[in-house]
Amino acid sequence: TVLVVDYGAQYAQLIARRVREADVYSEIVPSSTPVSEIVAREPAAVILSGGPASVYAEGAPELDPALFEAGIPVFGMCYGFQAMARALGGEVAPDGTREYGRTEIALSDTPGTLHEGLPGTHPVWMSHGDSVTAAPAGFTVTASSDRVAVAAFEDTGRRLAGVQYHPEVGHSPHGQEVLRRFLHDVAGITPNWTTASIIDETVAAVREQIGDGHAICGLSGGVDSAVAAAIVQRAIGDRLTCVFVDHGLLRAGEREQVEKDFVAATGAKLHTVDAADRFLDALAGVTDPEQKRKIIGREFIRVFEAATAEVVADHHVGFLVQGTLYPDVVESGGASGTGQTATIKSHHNVGGLPDDIEFALVEPLRALFKDEVRTVGAELGLPEVIVRRQPFPGPGLGIRIIGEVTRDRLETLRAADAIAREELSAAGLDEEIWQCPVVLLADVRSVGVQGDGRTYGHPIVLRPVSSEDAMTADWTRLPYDVLERISTRITNEVSEVNRVVLDVTSKPPGTIEWE
Ligand code: XMP
Repeated sequence: TVLVVDYGAQYAQLIARRVREADVYSEIVPSSTPVSEIVAREPAAVILSGGPASVYAEGAPELDPALFEAGIPVFGMCYGFQAMARALGGEVAPDGTREYGRTEIALSDTPGTLHEGLPGTHPVWMSHGDSVTAAPAGFTVTASSDRVAVAAFEDTGRRLAGVQYHPEVGHSPHGQEVLRRFLHDVAGITPNWTTASIIDETVAAVREQIGDGHAICGLSGGVDSAVAAAIVQRAIGDRLTCVFVDHGLLRAGEREQVEKDFVAATGAKLHTVDAADRFLDALAGVTDPEQKRKIIGREFIRVFEAATAEVVADHHVGFLVQGTLYPDVVESGGASGTGQTATIKSHHNVGGLPDDIEFALVEPLRALFKDEVRTVGAELGLPEVIVRRQPFPGPGLGIRIIGEVTRDRLETLRAADAIAREELSAAGLDEEIWQCPVVLLADVRSVGVQGDGRTYGHPIVLRPVSSEDAMTADWTRLPYDVLERISTRITNEVSEVNRVVLDVTSKPPGTIEWE
């Protein structure tokens, strides 16, 4: 394991991902972790991340020089580079030498292991105020920039190295190569974190955790729950039961993807609950978005618990599978990506579960990033439509009909949504678009003309967005010809719709969904 010490900027997760892209397993630890704890974990290497602070700032995270006495390979980046220089007796000056953004570095006559053979000058991404003015004793300075004399250094004998820039970002085109060289050549780590090894290790861990017990897993149709279930299925076979609630608010083809494609790919035992009537009854007459969400959430728990109770009635089920990912673990302050288990008590004022039922959580994706989950899913043979699926909200089409949710309206929206998705995929835009909600303004009508007749139909809104994490988003500039095809097809093929409009609002101020 490579431990990435997080100095509190947004970089640590990206670094951890890049390490894994170099086929080496990594985890993130907070900068407050005592060195004794780090050493006790016997990491294959330690990476000190960038961070927003100046090493001179009051309360700036300190680096305990004891780290360097343990013989562990260490790589410092940006803030980590400066903290490393300081801890080892080099000089860091708060001299206001600010560099921000794209910067050229020049390699010295001794470019060292990290930069050997790379172009003599090349661009990197910088973001720092202080700068290292003298490398610690024993280090070779391997690069500089116009502004800073020491932009990279290494002491390969002690397996220590650092760079002032950010090798983990795309704006440093040779950064990944430099990181690989540190991991493979300087630290001497065998690259063995591959999709096959991830699957083997995870399956083995799940098998060990569950023993000869039984587990259940709720499927949403999304990638995380599907991959989690596929792994557990591989580990314990038919002792896993998957539960899929069809709330009637799904998009076209989604139920079939779970019932046919997922089952065919995994052989998992599936229990589908047909609950559309129940959800639609509960939603009758409701137009308030929050009210809709509450009703859908409440009904979902009731139905899921009732279904679980049926499974549990057959045999004792001790485990509940969840698709928790590594970023959730890091963000909630979890210490370690693997081997952690928590016990939850299912709360159930309704659904008929015995009062004392307790599930231990099984979280096979707890150590994985989203891109790893997709790769693992593909390797396990899950269909593309599931593995590549864009985000889709739990309340489904229920929050994409503005107004009351009815069967007819769902049918209208489902047809329009299917056309939009088909055309966006055909145009090869799935990767570029984060997601594209298709919204039916069910309470709005406008006049139109079709054939010889006047129409009075509903508008459909297209909401294509680009985003990194759904926290902020921009509207995607879709090509006009794609928009035209979607519009023409929807107005021709979906009878209730006579107008297609495009939402050109960023988030903020708009949210991605309309409700
Ligand atoms: P907003 O509309 O808040 O959406 O900009 C941000 C992201 O979250 C998804 N979303 C949901 N996902 N249950 C979910 O599982 C929900 O109730 C829900 N509401 C919004 C939305 O699709 C987008 O990706």
